[in-house]
Amino acid sequence: MGTITAGVALLSLCAIVATGCAERRAEDSHSVFLFSGEQAKGAAPQTGAASDSNSTNTSPASVLFVVYVATPPDVVDVMLKTARVTRDDVLCDLGCGDGRIVVTAAKRYGCLAVGYDLDPLRVQEARKNAEDNHVAHRVRIEQKDILEADLSGATVVTLYLGHQLNARLVPRLAKLGAGARIVSHDFPLADIPPDQVVHVTSRTDRRVHTVYLWNCPLKVANPRPTPTP
Ligand SMILES: C[S@@+](CC[C@H](N)C(=O)[O-])C[C@H]1O[C@@H](n2cnc3c(N)ncnc32)[C@H](O)[C@@H]1O
Repeated sequence: MGTITAGVALLSLCAIVATGCAERRAEDSHSVFLFSGEQAKGAAPQTGAASDSNSTNTSPASVLFVVYVATPPDVVDVMLKTARVTRDDVLCDLGCGDGRIVVTAAKRYGCLAVGYDLDPLRVQEARKNAEDNHVAHRVRIEQKDILEADLSGATVVTLYLGHQLNARLVPRLAKLGAGARIVSHDFPLADIPPDQVVHVTSRTDRRVHTVYLWNCPLKVANPRPTPTP
């Protein structure tokens, strides 16, 4: 229990530090923190570029964490349009930040939406965002590692993470049923060719953002076998 508390406190600290980076270009500030069991007890986390695959640790005691950078509202709009969201969808934002994607989806399209985030500050913000926008009955926010999120009912999955986390999600995303859609802001999904790529210049930061779409089932060339217990 002490380990969990120390880990959450450390994540909060990193998130507070990271929040200062939120206005920077996403690719500059997409640091990846890797928490091992020992590091979660209080040592400083390793940091590195999101694309630095050498730092990937598959130990179940470790958590791969990318810092908070919000998707500008006009890019959120393009993500939801590209994903062809309707009121019949269940949208899942992995690493939901302040909940802007799930709240916009629930408010504009009337769908159900679930957001997962490990940072308790973001979870609090996202829940308040849903309440303030009167969609709390359609939005659920869970504090959980995205690699443990339940995607079984999801028909749309949205991502703004990084190369490593996207790659780690592939085996789970590959289980999404036919008709589901995945959209990712700025980062591809390993080497899986997207079905659509949209470039949008945001009025918020005046930079060109990329939105990738994959229609499910994913065309995974070499799906990793699920390890047997
Ligand atoms: C780049 S932000 C994107 C926020 C939001 N989806 C958006 O597009 O505005 C990534 C979010 O993922 C969360 N996060 C990072 N690693 C995570 C992990 N392993 N499990 C759960 N949440 C994580 C961070 O706290 C942060 O809020």
